Amino acid sequence: MSDIPTGNAGEKKRFDRDSVRNTLVVAIGLSLVCSVLVASTAVLLKPRQERNEELFRQRIILEVASLMEPGADVSNLFSTIESRMIDLESGEYVDTVDPATFDAGAAAGDPELGVAIPANLDIANIKRRARYAPVFLVRDESGIAQIILPVYGSGLWATMYGYLALENDGVTIAGLRFYDHGETPGLGDQIDRPDWRQIWVGKKIKDPGGDVRIEVIRGVVQAGSISDDSRFQIDGMSGATLTGRGVTNLVRYWTGPHGFGPYLQQFPLSDDAS
Ligand SMILES: Cc1cc2nc3c(=O)[nH]c(=O)nc-3n(C[C@H](O)[C@H](O)[C@H](O)COP(=O)(O)O)c2cc1C
Repeated sequence: MSDIPTGNAGEKKRFDRDSVRNTLVVAIGLSLVCSVLVASTAVLLKPRQERNEELFRQRIILEVASLMEPGADVSNLFSTIESRMIDLESGEYVDTVDPATFDAGAAAGDPELGVAIPANLDIANIKRRARYAPVFLVRDESGIAQIILPVYGSGLWATMYGYLALENDGVTIAGLRFYDHGETPGLGDQIDRPDWRQIWVGKKIKDPGGDVRIEVIRGVVQAGSISDDSRFQIDGMSGATLTGRGVTNLVRYWTGPHGFGPYLQQFPLSDDAS
């Protein structure tokens, strides 16, 4: 009679839920299931994520060109803008690279597709850049109305990425808008303030001699000074002088001779070339 195990003792013998082995099996099994779930979700969502990032950049391009309308379909509106690739060194258009799939960051690091920026020219502090870059052309009935350039360079904390829109003279700023940066909220992130962005509109990148003069100054621009440098000057952002300097440097680099300078030389276009 004493050989018959009680219910409890028997169950315990068959399956000890609290044993080290079972705990490990459950923990490892659960981790495997979770990692498969997370990994497959990330893989499945990647195309959608990339598409959303692309749409976001398209929206910023439309905004910098003052073409964005409330409720508009970003993709449709963006399709009215012509995307072209240029060879930065020659300033010529190239048709061998697709602007829709071009990855400037990856190309910059590629030995064939990227170039090192000589230290004395690297005012944007980006070390390397791609040989090619996209430009976005807004056309109206009389030809090219605006040229939109991707620009980036070091801020205080991280690289700031944005778009600079120029009028068809290649010199007058139509807008500057950042879509990615790591500047401090309330300090460096004033670069996103609509009133600060508005100050850029109408300012000149270069003087008539072709020297890049644009500058975020300290303090407020004094309009109508004797030399009238105010047309190249942007009000500083209080408590964010270093971010302002970064913006000056990146705009100067990308509109200068090692950036889009050779491309911009063709502007203003003669009537038959537009
Ligand atoms: C936590 C912290 C965050 C800061 N973030 C920024 C920033 O994003 N951009 C910036 O230019 N300065 C930033 N600063 C201030 C800079 O260190 C520097 O003092 C400032 O750029 C000087 O600008 P001002 O001459 O207009 O005061 C930060 C300072 C601290 C302590």
